[in-house]
Amino acid sequence: MKAKYVQLPEMMHAVRQHEAGGKLMIESIPVPKPGPGEVLVKMAAAPINPSDLALLQGNYLARNYPFIPGLEGSGVVIRSGGGLLSRLRVRKRVACSPNPEGDGTWAQYMKTSVMRTVPLPSGVGSEQGAMMLVNPMTTMAFIQIALKGGHKAMVNNAAASALGKMLIRLTNQHRIPLINIVRKKEQVPELKSEGATYVLNSRDESFANDLQKLSVDLGATLFLDAVTGKQTSILLKAAPRGSTLLAYARLSGDPISVDPGILIKEDKQIEGFQLGNWLHTKSILYKLRFIRRVKKQLSASLTSHINRSMSLEEVEEAISIYRENMSAGKIILLPEKSSIKDLSD
Ligand SMILES: NC(=O)c1ccc[n+]([C@@H]2O[C@H](COP(=O)([O-])OP(=O)(O)OC[C@H]3O[C@@H](n4cnc5c(N)ncnc54)[C@H](OP(=O)(O)O)[C@@H]3O)[C@@H](O)[C@H]2O)c1
Repeated sequence: MKAKYVQLPEMMHAVRQHEAGGKLMIESIPVPKPGPGEVLVKMAAAPINPSDLALLQGNYLARNYPFIPGLEGSGVVIRSGGGLLSRLRVRKRVACSPNPEGDGTWAQYMKTSVMRTVPLPSGVGSEQGAMMLVNPMTTMAFIQIALKGGHKAMVNNAAASALGKMLIRLTNQHRIPLINIVRKKEQVPELKSEGATYVLNSRDESFANDLQKLSVDLGATLFLDAVTGKQTSILLKAAPRGSTLLAYARLSGDPISVDPGILIKEDKQIEGFQLGNWLHTKSILYKLRFIRRVKKQLSASLTSHINRSMSLEEVEEAISIYRENMSAGKIILLPEKSSIKDLSD
């Protein structure tokens, strides 16, 4: 997509949901008008992430219905709603995320705060750029947490995910041993071919013992838990004394139940991790440096495999393909390639 000054249409097409768990509709609605400190992005690409599925079920962030899903994406800023930074962003290709409680990226246009846009490096395409703000930044945050906490090694589950594969590449770069946990036999050799040294299958009988032994041998004291539920107590039991477990998703959908004795006697901790909350604790300078580092790695270690790119109208099919095999790669929605013509054309 060229960063040119485009004539704005009055209406646009967007994916909308009218109630939690409800069907997704393609609707024609007014193009949003950005206010002061906001910009209007002409969307180029937007992935489907596990957090989008949780949002569609009504299990994640608050939304006023009907709303447009999509928690990250990329596009070109075509209007400023006022303010110096917003004006400077016009014509820039950006990665973007919606305002809190705002409409999302699965649409031809999205308005958002300029602070929720990051200019994309020229070598990064719209599809990879659309996935910059969630997984690459979270993976980099995990590395920072491991380094700052003096953890000698780390553990990550749901490790065949896009994030898991990025973490394999980054921990290799930083020479931090990583124990990867998957739940499918075929993912063990797959992750080894991606550069992983240690891969355990949580469905193996010896899993809990193997994890305990390996964690102690490697000094793995940072446990990253995207599965939670029953797996959390297995991880905590296996963790060496003084370990920290970061619960960063709830893929199992189950609550955590842990013997408090493990926490009390063995000085282990459970913390929640959410990228936005973590970034919120950082200074502006830290954030700028952090984003610069993420951008540098974006076309190398922080890429995600793309399974398929589909149009907005194919959203229901796109979600079911994604649900069926999340480890096969991301499904990207392309509002521009939609067979629905841009209403400005
Ligand atoms: N807290 C934060 O700020 C934050 C930020 C970014 C990402 N995340 C989380 O990080 C995780 C990975 O994200 P992603 O975009 O990289 O995911 P992804 O590429 O879409 O892959 C999802 C992975 O989850 C696995 N999975 C699904 N349900 C599972 C279950 N019940 N038990 C074990 N594994 C299961 C799948 O493996 P199978 O092949 O076994 O199905 C797949 O490898 C997600 O849960 C996401 O919400 C959190």
